Amino acid sequence: MKELRMESAGNTGRGSTPDLGVQIGPLVLRNPVMTASGTFGYAREFENLVDLAQLGAIIVKGISLHPKPGNPPPRIVETACGMLNAIGLENVGVDRFISGKMPYLYKLSSPVVVNILGDSVEEYSEIARRLDRVEGVAALEVNISCPNVKKGGVAFGTVPEMAARVTEAVRGGSRLPLIVKLSPNVTDIVLMARAVADAGADAVSLINTLIGMAIDPISRSPRLANVIGGLSGPAIKPVALRMVWQVAQAISLPVIGIGGITTANDALEFLLAGASAVQVGTANFYDPSAAGNIVQGITAYLQEQGEDRLVDIVGTLQTGID
Ligand SMILES: Cc1cc2nc3c(=O)[nH]c(=O)nc-3n(C[C@H](O)[C@H](O)[C@H](O)COP(=O)(O)O)c2cc1C
Repeated sequence: MKELRMESAGNTGRGSTPDLGVQIGPLVLRNPVMTASGTFGYAREFENLVDLAQLGAIIVKGISLHPKPGNPPPRIVETACGMLNAIGLENVGVDRFISGKMPYLYKLSSPVVVNILGDSVEEYSEIARRLDRVEGVAALEVNISCPNVKKGGVAFGTVPEMAARVTEAVRGGSRLPLIVKLSPNVTDIVLMARAVADAGADAVSLINTLIGMAIDPISRSPRLANVIGGLSGPAIKPVALRMVWQVAQAISLPVIGIGGITTANDALEFLLAGASAVQVGTANFYDPSAAGNIVQGITAYLQEQGEDRLVDIVGTLQTGID
């Protein structure tokens, strides 16, 4: 697809400003572009760099029941077309998040989605319960890519029954809109999506990072202290797009596309493949204005295409196959 020319947006003479509004289950967004968890801190870090009100929603760094120190450095490595991270889910824990971060987040005009993680099913439901009545939390995004300590370190997100149990537990502890974030490190992504859809999710988001590694041949040692880490950025976009397309066809819940989205054209590919919304992750590290630019680029595309509403283009990919 040809890169959009922003300057042509106002010159087409076609249509007025298109409606970018989308609905993710019970969550209503003014536009479909969110910042991905772990790549936008707790939003305050970006307040002097970007207009936070431009964002469809802000998804904050993953929160656990107790504070996590994360992994030792080095824990970020640049790779061709992406990055590897082994942050180890460092965060302040749910209580300090509520007392220290929510008062600021509450004042923002963009909805705030809280990404949560646990070492056990019980931890997930307890975090959800504590966040349930906190003003300013618009939705929960459940990260099921964490190892299940009790089951010997298998990620919840790789076993459909475990993913369903986590979803049910969070659903039971919260009235908030529930997005379950899927891991790509599985054989059949559709199986995982169906499992969490049947267990009570309002939406699914995908993908989280792909497991990778990098080696320094001189020192003959891994570049990450943790040896392996999560690969993100443009390198993973084709995998993410394929998975979003497969899942959007298989389940009736809204799908949120994530993975290597850097430009409006990237976001549009996901929307055409069936995503109702998108998240921007790694791009925030080198261009904090990426998400805002994507909102403007989508607007320009809809105007050029003579479309009045974003929702009308979702899932309109023409594959030519049945
Ligand atoms: C440094 C870093 C930290 C991340 N932390 C989280 C996290 O706490 N919870 C989560 O669900 N995903 C986390 N992710 C995954 C991203 O939200 C996103 O799913 C992934 O990076 C793919 O999108 P991208 O290619 O646009 O970065 C993290 C990613 C990066 C690069």
